[in-house]
Amino acid sequence: MQNLKEYITHPVFSQIGKISDQEGIETYVVGGFVRDLLMERKREYYDIDVVTVGSGIVLATKVAAALRPGLKVTVFKNFGTAMFKFDDIDFEFVGARRESYQRESRKPFVEDGTLEDDQKRRDFTINALAICLNSDRFGDLLDSFNGVGDLERKIIRTPLEPEVTFSDDPLRMLRAIRFAAQLDFMIEDKTLEAIQTQCNRIEIVSRERVTDELNKIILSPKPSIGFKLLEKTGLLAIILPEIQKLKGRETRNGIGHKDNFYHTLEVLDRISKNTDNLWLRWSALLHDVAKPVTKRFDPRLGWTFHAHNFVGEKMLPSIFDRLKLPLNEKLKYVQKLVSLHMRPIVLSEEEVTDSAVRRLLCDAGDDIDDLMTLCEADITSKNPDKVSRFMSNFQLVREKLKDIEERDALRNFQPPITGEIIMETFSLPPGREIGIIKSAIKEAILEGEIHNNYDEAYQYMLAKGDELGLKAKI
Ligand code: CTP
Repeated sequence: MQNLKEYITHPVFSQIGKISDQEGIETYVVGGFVRDLLMERKREYYDIDVVTVGSGIVLATKVAAALRPGLKVTVFKNFGTAMFKFDDIDFEFVGARRESYQRESRKPFVEDGTLEDDQKRRDFTINALAICLNSDRFGDLLDSFNGVGDLERKIIRTPLEPEVTFSDDPLRMLRAIRFAAQLDFMIEDKTLEAIQTQCNRIEIVSRERVTDELNKIILSPKPSIGFKLLEKTGLLAIILPEIQKLKGRETRNGIGHKDNFYHTLEVLDRISKNTDNLWLRWSALLHDVAKPVTKRFDPRLGWTFHAHNFVGEKMLPSIFDRLKLPLNEKLKYVQKLVSLHMRPIVLSEEEVTDSAVRRLLCDAGDDIDDLMTLCEADITSKNPDKVSRFMSNFQLVREKLKDIEERDALRNFQPPITGEIIMETFSLPPGREIGIIKSAIKEAILEGEIHNNYDEAYQYMLAKGDELGLKAKI
């Protein structure tokens, strides 16, 4: 039997072991901590799951009191669980149970069980490993379902028949795919088939839990692994039908268009090499979401997806709402990137003028760098000449952006002349002239006719007022 005591050096573990010995109960550390330890996978944040063949609540309370008097223990009586935070690590305690492990279920747990009962009701063999904490067996690894073998072979497999494991908690279908993406593992055939046949049962899981897993898939090193599996199993059509609809090619008059599903996944993988920003990754996933609804065939032009960026932007609030994603500035950010995602490309296809770059800078504001990252990821052409032309023009756009940004500080464009100044200067009440003058000043700055400063804008305002027949106060 493998012994891992040299890896479980945190003093809480020995304390748990000591109290368990005193109480005469067996206690183990289980779940993701053991899996990641064996994989030598570094984690920034841990929650550590502890199972005891006894009362989790009693054990947690006694361990906490021994560690530091007054250490706060949070108890979830209905679930028979308790937790405390120590050294910034969440330690969660549960009594071994015969029925399924259902952390978020409203059903109170009923029957106590042995460690083996508990392990077999867990989701995957790689998560059903346990390390004993009692002093006589401290560090012993218990592996009833050959989880270590599956870790070596990089396989996701359920300890029981997959139908049983998934019907206990259908979220596990998504978790299987999430682990496959995060760890770059394969899902065993039988387990995958069970997901295919039971995919509809995901409907009974709360949106928040589904979205939590989706976010983890999006944040994994190569998200396409997860999305291809979501598609293959039928889960994608249920949880993100808009992305499912991107799949497929059509040919008419001998003209085809690319498969926008695989294109999207390529963009998502490419961007994931450059950013861990969840919302930038969501922008990559959703950048072409309106292509299916805007798709037309024009005998002269071939396939067009006219205004798919703007239509996409409008589709986002309902998608975010349905997925319970935040409807705040995160949504606005993704909307902005989706709506602007073609601008730098179009720019780089044409001659890169100062005025076009100024307009881009003004519209993208602080998100300009993220927008450029998205656009670069969006260049997935197989034609190397095309790619290198885009990339070098892109470099030009970047240089000009830098240049102009330094000159004009347009990134957070604030009009140098406010509506109040215009009203004051021409003794005007609020009215349409104010808007006309304000946008004329903005246009003049963007076109490079005047610099972005108060004095030049003030003179421009006077001239524009004159044109409109307004008299300035002396
Ligand atoms: N578990 C389960 N079924 C679920 C959720 C969790 O069987 N639907 C079990 C697994 O044994 C899992 C453990 O509870 O390892 C802890 O769950 P969780 O903290 O969600 O996952 P981890 O495996 O710790 O992985 P991560 O922290 O990466 O989410």
